[in-house]
Amino acid sequence: MGFVIFLREQLEFQIKFKHMSNSKKVETQAIRGQIERSQYREHSVPLFLTSSFTFPSAELMRGTFAGEEEGNIYSRFSNPNTDEFINKVCLMEGAEAGFATATGMAAVFASMASFLCSGDHVIASRAVFGSTHQILNYILSSWGIKHTYVNPTDVDSWEQHVRPNTRMIVLETPSNPGLTLVDLEKAGQLAKKHQLILNVDNCFATPYLQQPIKFGAALSVHSGTKFMDGQGRVLGGIIVGKQELIEQVVFFCRHTGPALSPFNAWMLSKSLETLPVRMERHCSNALQLAQFLEQHSEVSKVLYPFLPSHPQQDLAKKQMKLGGGLVTFEVKGGLERGMRFLNAAKMCSLTSNLGDSRTILTHPASTTHSKLSIEEQQAVGITKGLVRVSVGLEHIDDIVQDIEQALAESK
Ligand SMILES: Cc1ncc(COP(=O)(O)O)c(C=O)c1O
Repeated sequence: MGFVIFLREQLEFQIKFKHMSNSKKVETQAIRGQIERSQYREHSVPLFLTSSFTFPSAELMRGTFAGEEEGNIYSRFSNPNTDEFINKVCLMEGAEAGFATATGMAAVFASMASFLCSGDHVIASRAVFGSTHQILNYILSSWGIKHTYVNPTDVDSWEQHVRPNTRMIVLETPSNPGLTLVDLEKAGQLAKKHQLILNVDNCFATPYLQQPIKFGAALSVHSGTKFMDGQGRVLGGIIVGKQELIEQVVFFCRHTGPALSPFNAWMLSKSLETLPVRMERHCSNALQLAQFLEQHSEVSKVLYPFLPSHPQQDLAKKQMKLGGGLVTFEVKGGLERGMRFLNAAKMCSLTSNLGDSRTILTHPASTTHSKLSIEEQQAVGITKGLVRVSVGLEHIDDIVQDIEQALAESK
């Protein structure tokens, strides 16, 4: 074992995951994709907080190590809670297999390092998360893996950058924090034409709002820390995709050790049960906040994928179910006004996380993206006054009221 081989037709899968429903609806899959009950017939899946697993005989132990027998060996390789979390995300995204990691960045890194060798080339959307830039710019570069940054809004222009040694396309949609979208269908077609691995960071959309594999992605990567957990409690990450690729990810992770802890897997799997309901509310609150901000005289620009003013609204509606839980806006008055605005917030939290039940305000230029040069920040649309709102699940009236009073107070 070591990862979940997701082949619905196979009996072994049905034995391993009795999800008690053949529904194709993500709401049901997020709940019923659970592992089978133990001999205690518990309703809610228990926590398998164990580093390793026992064997009734030396023969079975040998066979399991040799890969001839199914079974857990060691929680760095697999664990029932981790398997359940992976299984649910595979069901929700239409993926064949997956591997769960300790953080989202471990997933991003493993999704690249499992495949790329010295001399390879990567095409990367310019609008990717700050740490993803650092991996490409410094870590992979120092290992002789080159990259070309491309314009996320013009996938047609990417083909001219494909080289004989190009191996992978890396992108994020919607991007953090600029909420720029990449046309997944076009990226999928390009990847197919040149036999490239299309690797999509699907963190902002979540498996509920967007399934990149349906558009031709080979890998879909998440930070579980965000909306999947949804309450700012645990770190986690996951890579799902084609089975033959996930086998390489498993090899890389099994021996380098970025496994998700069973406790965090248990938390994340439970949280997935409510992801669809939470995302509906995150998205409706975010849309209402964006509409409010758009009318405000102290705000010069608002970005939200489902707003008619978003330059890619049509694309957002094509590839996303709803607009997501993030809104970004530019407060008039630049950096100092932006800082005053954050200081004036009474209810909203100032913290670097996102995807929490509590509304969070951040200032990317001084925090998450501060390691980027000014030119790099500008290239991904980060201006000094840009504020990112991770819109929570509080009543929308309270969210709007706090932001309204902070805008007035910081004038
Ligand atoms: C788009 C995106 N990818 C990856 C990550 C990294 O996730 P983690 O913090 O769980 O390592 C983040 C974190 O904010 C993110 O926003």
